[in-house]
Amino acid sequence: MHNKIITKSHVLSAALIMLLAAPVFAKDDHSKKGHHGNHLPNMFSSENEHGRDATFSTAGFIDLDNPFFKSLGTNGRSCASCHIPSQGWTITPAGVQKIFDETDGLDPLFRLVDGANSPIADVTTLEKRRTAYSMLLEKGNIRVGIGIPADAEFELTNADDPYGYANENELSLFRRPMPTTNLKFISAVMWEGRETTLMPNSGDCLYGTDTCFSPVAFDLGTQANHATLGHAEALLDLTDEEREAIVAFELGLFTAQIHDNDAGNLSAEKALGGPKALKKQYYYFGINDTLVGDYQTGEPFNPAVMSLYDSWDRIKPNKSSNNTKNARAAIARGQALFNTKPIMISGVKGINDDLNINVLPGTCTTCHNTPNSGNHSTPMPLDIGISDESRRTPDMPLYTLKNKATNEIIKTTDPGRALITGKWKDIGRFKGPVLRSVASRPPYFHDGSAADLPAVVEFYNNRFNIGLTEAEKADLVAFLAAL
Ligand code: HEC
Ligand code: HEC
Repeated sequence: MHNKIITKSHVLSAALIMLLAAPVFAKDDHSKKGHHGNHLPNMFSSENEHGRDATFSTAGFIDLDNPFFKSLGTNGRSCASCHIPSQGWTITPAGVQKIFDETDGLDPLFRLVDGANSPIADVTTLEKRRTAYSMLLEKGNIRVGIGIPADAEFELTNADDPYGYANENELSLFRRPMPTTNLKFISAVMWEGRETTLMPNSGDCLYGTDTCFSPVAFDLGTQANHATLGHAEALLDLTDEEREAIVAFELGLFTAQIHDNDAGNLSAEKALGGPKALKKQYYYFGINDTLVGDYQTGEPFNPAVMSLYDSWDRIKPNKSSNNTKNARAAIARGQALFNTKPIMISGVKGINDDLNINVLPGTCTTCHNTPNSGNHSTPMPLDIGISDESRRTPDMPLYTLKNKATNEIIKTTDPGRALITGKWKDIGRFKGPVLRSVASRPPYFHDGSAADLPAVVEFYNNRFNIGLTEAEKADLVAFLAAL
């Protein structure tokens, strides 16, 4: 099947498998009305380790005729090569391995340009392809190539790249594709916000400053064009119609977990899980801002960012045997921990340096401040230490950067925002992603270094010495998995 229908292969096979094997679509499927092309039904649902997600599209169905699913370049790839509806609109190692096995590693996902560990790797045999695409197979990581800006405050003094390619003109940065759903809530585009453009005195401005950004919908159009020229190796820009169609499609998608293996239906007993409630969630630039309060209402920052499971707070865990009740109570406790568990934030570039505070007492929601979405409502890339030398694993490159003025040295697996601004203080800074449907897209963080949700919680517990008990860790995981 993959060899015959190249452009839509993943999505179609995913759809067919779902239709044949697991009829989990919701009944309110408007997709057939007045539409005769290829589509996935609304509330298209996929299994994950913790249960099942679903995607609601404001178009009434997921339109597989949208240019998002078309091969618009020269290498057979579409946006859906790396943003697959059944893999949380990104790709997961399990999903990638299946495509590799079905196509002997020849599917358009496996392209030297950025699918391989090095763009000059040998991919002439099946076994060589397995080696060449190991980062994609094991972590679902794509190789993003970005050089050191000419006017940077630092220089590259060593590139320790296990794949023998990276240099100052092109560092190899192994990053997870970000989901192309729930984009209504984002305030910056890409992990380090490189597609977010400054727009003096108009657009979305940081409170009380003349630092302003172009609207996200505009940046998404530029991003779609760059993705086509880069990932799909197109020779021509997208047409305005194609850009607009892709952006309208992406902005209409909402994805969230709808069913939990233990807690069951995530909108039962007045809970607000699932994509339909998410679509109704209020959002604007600067909503519930952590530093100055809400940009529109002027209300002070409210740390109770997540309220989906407020109605499950009253559920008393039942010692006898009601597992569903116990699981719902755990999710509500996890939500409370996310909103209120004290975290002493220190050593975070973008917070402690910019605010000149050694220790900022906060919670998960100090950084994940957007109501019921969990990203940051203004562009605020932060260095929480994911790309630190101390966390480097042998499969990752390690870059030695030297400050041209002070000769100070930082070793990092990914300089992040600093490769865009050239600023020393921006090394290791990345945006906090939308946290909805996070169960659908392991592994986590920009480099896929946390294999699962328990590993994410473990990272935070160690990084900030939070002192979570085993029971609290389990509750936090139960909550994250229900997003
Ligand atoms: C080869 C894989 C690949 C293909 C093909 C691809 N992307 Fe991506 N996409 C990525 C990766 C990797 C990232 C994150 C890169 C980064 O931040 O440095 C990303 C990020 C994004 C984001 C940013 C989301 C956010 O929260 O900031 C959007 C939007 C997006 N892609 C849309 C598209 C569209 C539209 C297309 C088709 C025109 C496309 N992508 C094709 C791999 C891919
Ligand atoms: C100091 C700011 C900060 C705090 C506090 C914080 N986060 Fe994060 N979070 C981030 C940033 C920044 C990222 C992206 C980091 C990266 O990949 O480099 C992130 C990423 C994540 C991710 C990964 C999402 C994905 O798609 O890969 C999860 C899950 C998460 N955070 C949950 C939490 C939880 C739970 C807490 C509280 C225990 C918490 N965060 C506290 C800033 C923070």
